[in-house]
Amino acid sequence: RIAYVNGAYQRHAEAAVHVEDRGFQFADGVYEVCEVRHGFIVDLTRHLDRLDRSLRELRIAWPMTRAALVVVIREVLRRNRVRNGLFYLQVTRGAARRDHVFPADGTPSTIVVTAKRTDTSAIAKKNAVGISAITVPENRWDRVDIKSVGLLPNVLARQAAKEEGAQEAIFIDPDGTVKEGAATNVWIVDKDGRLRTRHADHGILRGITRTTLADVTAAIGLEIVEQAFSVEEMLEAREVFITAATSICFPVVTVNGKTVANGHPGSVSQKIREAFFDIAE
Ligand code: PDD
Repeated sequence: RIAYVNGAYQRHAEAAVHVEDRGFQFADGVYEVCEVRHGFIVDLTRHLDRLDRSLRELRIAWPMTRAALVVVIREVLRRNRVRNGLFYLQVTRGAARRDHVFPADGTPSTIVVTAKRTDTSAIAKKNAVGISAITVPENRWDRVDIKSVGLLPNVLARQAAKEEGAQEAIFIDPDGTVKEGAATNVWIVDKDGRLRTRHADHGILRGITRTTLADVTAAIGLEIVEQAFSVEEMLEAREVFITAATSICFPVVTVNGKTVANGHPGSVSQKIREAFFDIAE
């Protein structure tokens, strides 16, 4: 495998950033994960627009022009022979002697791009049987709309899920409503048949898959209601599912060990998944 680091394509096993990189020391950086299907980068423009927004919010300089970055991404995919998989990119505020304040102007941002193939059989299995989720109290900062690499609460939440035999952890606001998963957005088909997801403010990440789903649902005649829902509403829902660039749309069949609906993946999430692949192809 090959990784791109600050201007050079390196063997993945040896690719490294400086020990004083601010991404390493302070999680002072942002990232994107983007899906690749049949050699086509899904929603690239939206991902780069969100990268631009994350960088602006944190006042981190673009490491290169947008056009140059697209060339690098395509080259990393080519060198890793990824036709179905994903790429990961991370930009940090660069390497400088450790100091909380920003480094001197002109310190170059660090840029890393990696790519890997998807385990399609694992994804197919998750779709066929559905996944389990647990709920955890929201304990992140109030700007999780920025796709920062500061993911410690998400890491701990996912690990807690794993230790309980589940695949995703869902953050719950102190008011009792669902925020989002550790690395996914959460949706329900409520008991009135409405497709619902929480409104996107600073309290969740505005997922690209979430945005693209709106294009998809319009095509299959479903309307999205952006309205928060409680844990109880989620447990009473006809369907629960999660979305992310890495998984598109996974049905959730148990929450905190309780069965959702009849315990099988629902038809709406399956329809959405198929429709999504139609437009992504
Ligand atoms: N995570 N919410 C959070 C907290 C996320 O980390 C992600 C994505 C999403 C879904 O966003 P999108 O549809 O743009 O992938 C929502 C990536 C995949 C990750 O951290 O691996």
